[in-house]
Amino acid sequence: MSSYQIAVIPGDGVGAEVAAEAVKTLRTVADKYGFKVKMAKFDWGCDYYLRNRIMMPANALELLQEFDAIFLGCIGDANKVPDHISLTLLIAIRKGFDQYINLRPIKLYPGVESPVKTATPETVDMVVVRENTEGEYAAAGGFFKLGTPDAFALQTGVFTQKGCERAMRYAFEFARKRKKFGKKVPVGMVTNCTKSNALNYSMVFWDSVYKKVAAEYPDVKTDMALVDAITMWFVKNPEYFDVIVASNLFGDIITDLGAMLQGGMGFAAGGNINPERIYPSMFEPIHGSAPKYAGKAIVNPIAAIESIRMMLDHLGEGRAALDIQEAVVKTLTLGKVKTADMGGKNRTHEMGDAIRKAVLRK
Ligand code: IPM
Ligand code: MG
Repeated sequence: MSSYQIAVIPGDGVGAEVAAEAVKTLRTVADKYGFKVKMAKFDWGCDYYLRNRIMMPANALELLQEFDAIFLGCIGDANKVPDHISLTLLIAIRKGFDQYINLRPIKLYPGVESPVKTATPETVDMVVVRENTEGEYAAAGGFFKLGTPDAFALQTGVFTQKGCERAMRYAFEFARKRKKFGKKVPVGMVTNCTKSNALNYSMVFWDSVYKKVAAEYPDVKTDMALVDAITMWFVKNPEYFDVIVASNLFGDIITDLGAMLQGGMGFAAGGNINPERIYPSMFEPIHGSAPKYAGKAIVNPIAAIESIRMMLDHLGEGRAALDIQEAVVKTLTLGKVKTADMGGKNRTHEMGDAIRKAVLRK
């Protein structure tokens, strides 16, 4: 019997509520498919910071290293700790465990309404492969002459050959095996999200690496679009996209728009992946911690449950993963249970329960 050790970091705000639904769903499929899951919870986050003046213990990565995967609820509560401090937890794990891919599927499920008019289940099915360890998030820079009229800040992007290449290779491999809209598309396509018209070093370099990697995948269509234009095309023609490879910051920005295409932040999940599996990968809903909704049990747990689906895929439990997805689709198609973001009155756990019931009914 396979057995997995999962670290759970509920985090701040609504983190505990969505993590509870994620954990229950993981238990449900584990029982159904007969694999074991051992979970350990870590109470790291802003409250931990208020007690200890650090977001997580100094040996956090050592502790996490023992696990097969990590589930993260969400981090941040600006009333307690400034965001640029609290979010070091997230970034430290991404970088420390070399989770150099941030995989963000964007799919609009039937029964979900997107605020974007062009978005329908027939038009929205794409994946963003976001570089997750360097680029604009390299934390290279400094403050200078602070407190004087000549004060300035520098924030330098770092784009390495290795860093760009491995993200692009992952995107091309992914496009090869991905089945858009469940069908085998004859050719996958990787859109290079760039800004080389203005960023004359970093993005010109990024483009050159894209070209080099693309040449190794003649069976995959190449494509490129400037990041600003991508935001326009996401809205105008979402059906055009298949796989998009983007730098850290650009990937961050376009996936919030992507979340709107898929019905809102309550649906968007992501995986911070170390493809070589030297370190554990971390799965999280991409929504924030929404402290104002915390404790009210009103947020949508689907993004968290979808993160568990991605985790199971990563762990090689593909059937259980598919089961979750089908249960989510069934629940949404039926349309009887709707959380506040969907215009309904159901509570967080009611949506979770409905999905788990659908898993068990199959
Ligand atoms: C995300 C978030 C993070 C990021 C923040 C919270 C640091 O926006 O995962 O998309 O910018 O990567
Ligand atoms: Mg973001």
